[in-house]
Amino acid sequence: MWTYEKFLEYPVKIKNPNPKMAKIIITQYGGPDGELAASLRYLSQRFSMVTPQAIATLNDIGTEELAHLEIVGAIVHQLVKNASLEEIKEAGLDPYYVDHGRGIYPVSAAGVPFTASYVQSKGDPIVDLTEDLAAEQKARATYEYLINAGDDPDVLEPLKFLREREVVHYQRFGEALRIVQDYLQEPRLFVMPKPDFMK
Ligand SMILES: [Fe+2]
Repeated sequence: MWTYEKFLEYPVKIKNPNPKMAKIIITQYGGPDGELAASLRYLSQRFSMVTPQAIATLNDIGTEELAHLEIVGAIVHQLVKNASLEEIKEAGLDPYYVDHGRGIYPVSAAGVPFTASYVQSKGDPIVDLTEDLAAEQKARATYEYLINAGDDPDVLEPLKFLREREVVHYQRFGEALRIVQDYLQEPRLFVMPKPDFMK
């Protein structure tokens, strides 16, 4: 279970509407390397992970990705909530507008709706953690591209925070992979205890 804190992990206070930026930033909400995919990937992989440390890493990072999903949703919301219809049309966001108004819906920058094929959960600890290392680098690169495309510090600061977290996640998955590789190479004298709900 989770407990919910009524504040964002990083504050978002955007003064100027910018539907052009909203159109591309939404990809980190519902795109292939976005936060929804990340949270579902890690929270699903936990069940078949083999060491308590690696399970805890997936649990912690999967949970934090949900908090990042919330930050990205807040950014997109603040970028479009006061945008005029004219600005929305100029940004090419009108196809999104006719289906979702100024609401938040998980799509990629190209407007492709979220799909579970963005998520992998293979049931093999080495495969899953290797996948996660690549996923974190892809998320980091996407934030990098979004930062390159922007110029408003109100938007760039939360994006930079999110980029930095992907680097930290990558390092933590690297540690988890080393721990799991060591565990799998040990003679099987004992099985590491798992949390009750994952037994
Ligand atoms: Fe991440």
